[in-house]
Amino acid sequence: MSQDHKPWGGRFTEATDAFVETFTASVGFDRRLYHYDIRGSIAHANMLGAAGIISVQERDRIVAGLREIHKEIEEGRFEWRIALEDVHMNIESRLVELIGDTGKKLHTGRSRNDQVATDIRLYVREEVDALLASSRTLMSALLDQAERYADTIMPGFTHLQTAQPITFGHHLMAWFEMLRRDTERLEDCRRRINVLPLGAAALAGTTFPIDRELVADELGFSRPSDNSLDSVSDRDFVIEFCAVASIMMMHFSRWSEELVLWMSEPFSFVDLPDRFCTGSSIMPQKKNPDVPELIRGKTGRVFGHLMSTLTLMKGQPLAYNKDNQEDKEPLFDAVDTLNDVLTALIGLVPAIEAKPERMRQAAGGGFATATDLADYLVRTGVPFRDAHDIVGRTVSYALQQQKTLDALSLTELRQFHQGIGEDVFDVLSLEGSVAARAHVGGTAPAQVRAAVARGRTLLAPD
Ligand code: ARG
Repeated sequence: MSQDHKPWGGRFTEATDAFVETFTASVGFDRRLYHYDIRGSIAHANMLGAAGIISVQERDRIVAGLREIHKEIEEGRFEWRIALEDVHMNIESRLVELIGDTGKKLHTGRSRNDQVATDIRLYVREEVDALLASSRTLMSALLDQAERYADTIMPGFTHLQTAQPITFGHHLMAWFEMLRRDTERLEDCRRRINVLPLGAAALAGTTFPIDRELVADELGFSRPSDNSLDSVSDRDFVIEFCAVASIMMMHFSRWSEELVLWMSEPFSFVDLPDRFCTGSSIMPQKKNPDVPELIRGKTGRVFGHLMSTLTLMKGQPLAYNKDNQEDKEPLFDAVDTLNDVLTALIGLVPAIEAKPERMRQAAGGGFATATDLADYLVRTGVPFRDAHDIVGRTVSYALQQQKTLDALSLTELRQFHQGIGEDVFDVLSLEGSVAARAHVGGTAPAQVRAAVARGRTLLAPD
């Protein structure tokens, strides 16, 4: 075989058009799969040997050749050729160059269609495992910060209006819950990734007595796939991964938006260390939260990859179509973006410094304990709707007086309801308000600590 002779060239009578050659080639990006391609090929060769489809000597030569190629690639000595289209044919051609005709037996009972599906599954499975490990590191960082700020009072918002006082620890534990669901989704997605397509061959299976269980075992797949047509055509797992990645990015984008807001001068709830910020080339005073801004910004491209992979598949008849080659770049970029963002957050989250005085001041400003006053009235026997109305009028009065609720005197408060007693000032205080929400899932510092403890159990290796 001449160096650039195409493995499928037999039935062709003229050379591929130069543009078509580059247009159809994927080696520029799928070479990234070389490690998985070689692993899959070694497992396939081992199975061919075990099943007596090739001899044991042939198997040994093929496996040694593939290992040599792996080394060449790792050491940057491998010459990738566009004319050989993709990672699979580049490696196979090199195998024949290295070990001669025996190399031509590797592709027995196999097609690039089941080969590429196997490669991508091996790749994304490994990436999911790494992403799971990073997510757990980040969850643990959130637990540490939540514990540190379990007593730190801040305003909780709805409609971005001050609603009720909460603790910063409670807010951080809300982030933890989002990420916890993300890891569950990643684990669930991994179950469907972890099925072996190899053996489906081009689409219909093969006439050779292959042992798919053996290959599945060697490659760590839970089982061989059940339908050859579906095996070569299915890219649900790529779409699912992009969907999980999109939801994660949506979460990280929300966190980022909060950080950007909290970093702004009018809020000044938190500070981020200089190493995570940049300055302005014109305004000397600026310290910009670029990292969270960029995380928010990178979310769009991952959503885009979800849409492009969905659209990629929507018109495809069974089984394999060349369209499928377009699955890789979105997938790779979704993986890379998510990895980068997790790396950024693993650095950033432990470095968040809250400004408790500022948070407290903001929590006190917006009548955040009005609901507590209503609940207090309910406990004296006033129906909640009436209590709501009484407190509404109290707030209106306090606004006129330019006072906060807890600055009103008992006499002033009693104008609105006679049943109000001295003990009302406990519920009007920020500490009293958060401490009173002492049920599972509530913002009370004790509950935040309990949630942190549950989180630590969740993350503990079993
Ligand atoms: N480069 C191709 C891809 O990424 C490999 C499979 C090609 N199979 C084929 N029959 N053309 O999907």
